[in-house]
Amino acid sequence: MSFRVTARTVLQLGAELISSDSVAFYELIKNAFDAGSKRVFIDVRVRMDHRAYLSHSTALRNGMPESPVDVEAYRRRILDDIDTSAPEADRLIRRIKRARTFQDLLRRLEEANYVQVRDRGHGMSAKDLEEIYLTIGTPHRRRQRARQSGNGSRQPILGEKGLGRLSAMRLGWRLEVLTTVKGEKRENRLHVDWRQFTDDNLMVEDVSVSPTKHYMDKTDPNRSGTRIRIYALTSPWSPTKLSEIATDEFSKLTDPFVPESRYPINVTYNDRPVRIRRFDNILFDFAHASAEAEYTIGEDGPRFVGTVHYR
Ligand SMILES: Nc1ncnc2c1ncn2[C@@H]1O[C@H](COP(=O)(O)OP(=O)(O)OP(=O)(O)O)[C@@H](O)[C@H]1O
Ligand SMILES: [Mg+2]
Repeated sequence: MSFRVTARTVLQLGAELISSDSVAFYELIKNAFDAGSKRVFIDVRVRMDHRAYLSHSTALRNGMPESPVDVEAYRRRILDDIDTSAPEADRLIRRIKRARTFQDLLRRLEEANYVQVRDRGHGMSAKDLEEIYLTIGTPHRRRQRARQSGNGSRQPILGEKGLGRLSAMRLGWRLEVLTTVKGEKRENRLHVDWRQFTDDNLMVEDVSVSPTKHYMDKTDPNRSGTRIRIYALTSPWSPTKLSEIATDEFSKLTDPFVPESRYPINVTYNDRPVRIRRFDNILFDFAHASAEAEYTIGEDGPRFVGTVHYR
């Protein structure tokens, strides 16, 4: 005999692990750095107000009759609610117009808004996607960490539990991973719809998720990296919310002593930069005093002279 794991346990694991949207982001960013990426690019794209999105998707999911006339009526209502000033709104409109069934329409509607985390790390091959990414509790990083601890490597590995990527489910119901390693001619894709795991009758192995090998051509075969997109978002987003999360969480991942130009995380909302307050500035806000000092070695020996400004 052995333990069996229900599909729902995966969702519970994700929910227990990730207490907030910021923690979810933090896990995805950690993975990008663990993959050796020097920078991480975060973009939140909102082409439809979240409330309008929820109302359309609920209506579509509540089993409308499958007739072309109905699809047309829904399509028109959805098109009316697209923010045409948002980036690639025209692309979304074209996609919505091409939807032929309710299912199609719902899928494309869910892609109106998304959270994207992109890195230029080492990426994953189709085999890595299958053998590492789809193994919950993968020991991959833990082993790498153990190997690294002896060799004095500068960039510490942050991952350990093999669970962090489950954090994506906190942000939205659908996860798309587009990834590639150096030397591959095409990208690999994995798509997961976490809602498949809500069925009480399924065991984890009953839910099939298979990566698509060689999904998309690469312009440069030497490029490597990963783009994670989360669709069917569970909560509304705004530049303010993103900026708050960025300041609270992302700034902890940055070195307060490096100049701004080397800040390793780029955050945008609909392609517009979102300000991340630097950790050093936040520290100054809470400091009881600031000090300036100079250390010199002169003829009389070392000298340390300075002034403390108390608040
Ligand atoms: N952006 C990425 N680029 C390359 N590989 C990735 C990326 N994200 C995840 N992986 C791979 O998937 C594995 C699982 O990631 P996950 O975050 O779930 O676990 P972990 O990083 O090993 O540990 P932890 O749960 O502590 O974060 C990683 O070990 C890594 O091999
Ligand atoms: Mg991780």
